[in-house]
Amino acid sequence: MKINELQTPAILVDLDRMEDNLNTYHRAALAHGKQVWPMIKTHKSRELARLQLDTGCSGFLCGTLDEAEALADDGVQNLMYAYPVATKPSADRVAALAKRCNFIARIDDLDAARIMDRAAAEAGVLLQYTIIVDSGLHRFGVQPEQAADFARAMEQFPHLKLRGISTHPGHVYGAATKEEVAQCCVDERQRMAVAAQVLRQAGYCVDMVTSGSTPTFFGALDDENINICHPGNYIYHDVIQCASGNVDWERCALTVLAAVISHPAEGLYLIDAGAKCLGLDQGAHGNGSIRGFGAVVGHPELTVVGLSEEVGKLRAEGPTDLQVGDIIRIIPNHACSAANLASYCVGVRGDEAEGLIAVDLRSNATKKGFE
Ligand SMILES: Cc1ncc(COP(=O)(O)O)c(C=O)c1O
Repeated sequence: MKINELQTPAILVDLDRMEDNLNTYHRAALAHGKQVWPMIKTHKSRELARLQLDTGCSGFLCGTLDEAEALADDGVQNLMYAYPVATKPSADRVAALAKRCNFIARIDDLDAARIMDRAAAEAGVLLQYTIIVDSGLHRFGVQPEQAADFARAMEQFPHLKLRGISTHPGHVYGAATKEEVAQCCVDERQRMAVAAQVLRQAGYCVDMVTSGSTPTFFGALDDENINICHPGNYIYHDVIQCASGNVDWERCALTVLAAVISHPAEGLYLIDAGAKCLGLDQGAHGNGSIRGFGAVVGHPELTVVGLSEEVGKLRAEGPTDLQVGDIIRIIPNHACSAANLASYCVGVRGDEAEGLIAVDLRSNATKKGFE
């Protein structure tokens, strides 16, 4: 089927671009002796996880326990959960995961650690963890200089085993230029180096130094400490990635296919894709250069100025050949948010639609506790 015969709206994945993204990043990491454990929350698809494994990744970083459990069901051995847990139901799930694969938790808080230690004790498992280090995002994480003090305090928990340190330099999403991105890479490397050093000096195991984001990926490849990289968005890329000048538009693999359904006023057009396709995301960590809610492919004169749930509003600056009935493609600001809004994406090559890709790892995709 041709793309312009598809029902709109639809979320398309350009398979050639996606495969090129995977090969480019994975090959670069392997050439530098690094492992890639991608953040899977970007695509939330078992099929795409399989493709990532087939193109050289060694494990996954998960954004939800649902994702981790599904991947463990699929036989994936190396799994890390990105965020701490602090309730018994979640800690029990973490302990259960630790019994069936090489599962690594992340911890930055002693109260949460106590809950995880108790769950691990009850499950009869030694739960591996890394200490989250704040590399500049100022979200989770201990300060690098305090990593050894934190490790010392963690010794009270006999069922938790330290493996190393982890971070996400997400402050890079406030960067508007390549130079600012480069500075975030310096922050990431320096702060992880300090944490690794104070831990090693104090005699602690630091065999896993795990870090990553898509914009800082290449800047971390020759780092002597970081040995596992966690890019997520790299599989698709999006407007936010391109905004800092770090990524070419030709690398954007995910687009929303929409039809122009009305032309109510001069320079104003309405489309059949709204917030429930494109997402209202304009970047979580402060990039002020994002205009509107996506980039219309081939139409630099158009801005997506507004989204209601199922309708988008485009404004043309100057002349445009856009007409009611036209089919357009929009690169979302944040591909991870857009991909999470549909049960399926359509895989395309050139102008041919090849088939559906299930987005089967979305939140509450499992009925945990009610089965
Ligand atoms: C903890 C953590 N690690 C890694 C990533 C992947 O970052 P990116 O999507 O920039 O590749 C994210 C994304 O939000 C994250 O929250």
